[in-house]
Amino acid sequence: MNTLLQISSAIAPAISILQANGLVAIPTETVYGLGANAYCESAVKRIFAAKNRPYYDPLILHVDTLEKVNELVTSFYPEAVALANAFWPGPLTLLLPKSAQVSNLVTANLPNLGIRIPNHPLTLSVLRELDFPVAAPSANPFNYVSPTTAQHVAQQLGNKIDYILDGGPSQVGIESTIVGFPGGVPTVYRLGAIAIEAIESIIGPVAFHLPQSSKSPLSAGQLPFHYSPTKALYLDNGCFETNHPLIQWQSVGFLGFNHFHLQIPIDQQRILSLDSDLNEAAQQLYSALRALDQLDAIDTIIAELVPNEGVGRAINDRIIKAAGRWQHVRSN
Ligand code: TXA
Ligand code: MG
Repeated sequence: MNTLLQISSAIAPAISILQANGLVAIPTETVYGLGANAYCESAVKRIFAAKNRPYYDPLILHVDTLEKVNELVTSFYPEAVALANAFWPGPLTLLLPKSAQVSNLVTANLPNLGIRIPNHPLTLSVLRELDFPVAAPSANPFNYVSPTTAQHVAQQLGNKIDYILDGGPSQVGIESTIVGFPGGVPTVYRLGAIAIEAIESIIGPVAFHLPQSSKSPLSAGQLPFHYSPTKALYLDNGCFETNHPLIQWQSVGFLGFNHFHLQIPIDQQRILSLDSDLNEAAQQLYSALRALDQLDAIDTIIAELVPNEGVGRAINDRIIKAAGRWQHVRSN
């Protein structure tokens, strides 16, 4: 870790470092972002380098007002206006046609820009003082689990960034829902913190452009191996419940929804919500995955899916993606 790295809840250093084109981890209600001045190409390139992220994966811009959003896009579909009014500030990213001042580096040469007004008091106070948008992907190495605390960011990217604004644990805990409008049709590109039910209650039925329905992913969030821990992770589809002699329960961890696993040592288990509360489960998900990934005693994680409704769909999407690479290995 960078010994000069500061982790603090003071916003003044965050503002001045961003103005000097440095890299600052910012808290949001979803996950921590790795932020830089979106108008400075060298600062934006540092984001890609710190994350080891390919340039084909576009970044989301963060601002604090609708006026600033309007300067960065050339048109706002009526459904986009309705969603912005309903959910901003909050965990919704809109894909809208970008205006000329947004660099192609930010959008990976795509015609649309991903943009949102996040809902975190410290970050909104920082954004208010800036005369540029902040480009910020989740503050994790490419393809690893997103960070929901300042300490998660420090552990993984601490030596690559200039300051971490500590806003406490992210309250929502799972990334924003991404909605675009290809051909004017409201379309969900990433399941996220805002439930489909909530979106459809505002604008009616939406289309989907998710990895299962696409052969050419538009974005890295659509890659099947995203959000992965480094330990092998398998879905608990029932076959692990037997007393199979080959399973070494001592070396297995369990990510459960609302109950403990009977065979696995209790300190190797993380339960997302004993009250079966999907919001609590979302808030706990990434911390729980990280904690299991860091346990020396285990080499394998088995994970249970949650009810597939509301934010539960986004939680299941992340768990299935985390398991994706291992299903692939096993089938080979
Ligand atoms: O909750 C969030 O959205 C967090 C916080 C920090 O705001 N950010 C986040 O950023 O999750 P990131 O970069 O980890 O994920 C953004 C996803 C990526 O999969 C990216 O490919 C996609 O959004 N994306 C961004 N701009 C896009 C665009 N113009 N068109 C299509 N996909 C886009
Ligand atoms: Mg990410």
